[in-house]
Amino acid sequence: MCGIVGYIGHRDASTVLIKGLKRLEYRGYDSAGIALINGELAYRKGKGKVANLERVLKNDSLSGKLGIGHTRWATHGEPNDINSHPHLSESGNVAVVHNGIIENYTTLKKQLTERGRVFQSQTDTEVVCQLIEEIYHSSPNITFEQAIRLALKQIVGTYGLAIIHKEIPDTIFIARKGSPLLLGIGDNEMFIASDASPIVEYTKRVVYLDDGEIAIVTKNSYRVKTIDDVPLTKEVHELAISLDAIEKAGYPHFMLKEIFEQPRSISDCMRGRINPENGTVLLGGIEDIIDKLVNARRIIIAACGTSWHSALVGEYLFEQLAKTPVEVEYASEFRYRDPLIGKGDVLLVISQSGETADTLAALREARNKGALVLGICNVVGSTIARETDAGVYTHAGPEIGVASTKAFTAQVIVLIMMALELGQRKGILTRQKMKEYIIELSRIPSKVEYILEHIDEEIKNLAALFTYAPNFLYLGRSYNFPVALEGALKLKEISYIHAEGYPAAEMKHGPIALIDEMMPVVVIAATDHTNDKMISNIEEVKARKGRIISIMNDDNPEVKKLSEFCISIPSTLDCFSPLLTVIPLQLLSYYIAVNRGCNVDQPRNLAKSVTVE
Ligand code: G6P
Repeated sequence: MCGIVGYIGHRDASTVLIKGLKRLEYRGYDSAGIALINGELAYRKGKGKVANLERVLKNDSLSGKLGIGHTRWATHGEPNDINSHPHLSESGNVAVVHNGIIENYTTLKKQLTERGRVFQSQTDTEVVCQLIEEIYHSSPNITFEQAIRLALKQIVGTYGLAIIHKEIPDTIFIARKGSPLLLGIGDNEMFIASDASPIVEYTKRVVYLDDGEIAIVTKNSYRVKTIDDVPLTKEVHELAISLDAIEKAGYPHFMLKEIFEQPRSISDCMRGRINPENGTVLLGGIEDIIDKLVNARRIIIAACGTSWHSALVGEYLFEQLAKTPVEVEYASEFRYRDPLIGKGDVLLVISQSGETADTLAALREARNKGALVLGICNVVGSTIARETDAGVYTHAGPEIGVASTKAFTAQVIVLIMMALELGQRKGILTRQKMKEYIIELSRIPSKVEYILEHIDEEIKNLAALFTYAPNFLYLGRSYNFPVALEGALKLKEISYIHAEGYPAAEMKHGPIALIDEMMPVVVIAATDHTNDKMISNIEEVKARKGRIISIMNDDNPEVKKLSEFCISIPSTLDCFSPLLTVIPLQLLSYYIAVNRGCNVDQPRNLAKSVTVE
């Protein structure tokens, strides 16, 4: 949430910052701004997307070789020009961009106001630059860096910060607590960003800042230290992502590109980890802790959004394939009920970005209580990936569309592989059974490819019919109950149509009252062992004249007979079914959103990486 960039070097800073902000726009797009030092400290900022800022800069350019920039997802203060970042101190000498929340900002603001400071905005961030400046001015012997460290000690909350001072025109100061920041090391130039996407074009060498650290960055040096002034030696990492992976490659939207990438992302996720010939799974990332996982009393899975839906699929998988008890938690709720978790338990967190604040907080809570903490993340080097005891990367490649698609299928693949490995090690799955599972798993990418090739037109037609439906209901059972939730989430987040996902039988306890001849009901009827029950549920919808859209296997004449529209997909084992059934639902929401003229990749009010609680 909120994207931060910074640049010092020989290039035109404005150009680098704008390009970087565009890459970070998935983190928020309420407003955008940059500040540069070139003799003076000058800034341009305003409500709306980076493209607006770019237009402003065309007529009223800023030049300089050092600057910071920000794209905002509003928390404190409505999205308007004044609340846009960068924020400046009263003198105009200090500029700050911030990602996170300053929890004690009202107290600090009150104190600063009482001492005569005048504030311009309603944001929590303005407190940071005003406080730093006040401390800096309070003593003639204090350095600006010291002032920053002293200010940070007074701040309660989370932050990724980039700070510049007009009179220190060769340095950017950055600090991190709870919000990601990394430093890209170039040749006589340095880059700062909330993630690697603005940096990868220029350099692959990066340093990840950890919580409680600050860095003093010039074009050819960086010093990292703790907030208490203890110098640190940081490891330099090599970025593995490529520039192609973060561009649209001819697709109109990132979301569509990412949907169509799934045959490849699923294969990438499984590569080198499954062996169909001898029926084995090997996940290097959890090898060292595998005995603890085998002996775990239970696994608790915590996540948010789409990752929470894959966690629900995980519950079915671990209980069926490995006979390990599982509970699934909303990460945002987990720590508020003083969870009973400790030694012998495993907390598995799932997060595409690896930065979601609630998921991170759940992880820390469980670790403090003595549980083994494992992660499934997509972004390599992300905070969650670094803070877990062990974990498995999904290797789905960068996901940029705000609505998650390929990350979901890759998370489910990892969960399947984990459950299979666990089942095998616990002696629950025989070698023969393992082979059957793995052979079928290795066919999934080509089945997804088949679906994408054969149903795209059908879904477009269906989307045209239902573009203006005010409501949608999604029903599924067993493994496809989480897919019903995911289908409904996809539709509401990008097309703003009210949609609910329900376990098909639970519909009788309320949502059935909504069904009439106007209500599209998407039925995910591709799970063999619940087919008969599902047919009864479809009958119940039909009796109330609901418009039935079924996602079903080719050979299901009963479902076909009852449905107004059928989307046929290849069959697979029930436990792999979400990997196929979710694809038509992703496409349906995509085409409906496009027909409605919605901004698919940047839906209103949402952000991809939710770094506030
Ligand atoms: C946001 C995104 C969702 C995502 C959720 C969890 O709400 O818009 O697409 O599923 O955060 O994110 P994570 O990165 O932890 O998977």
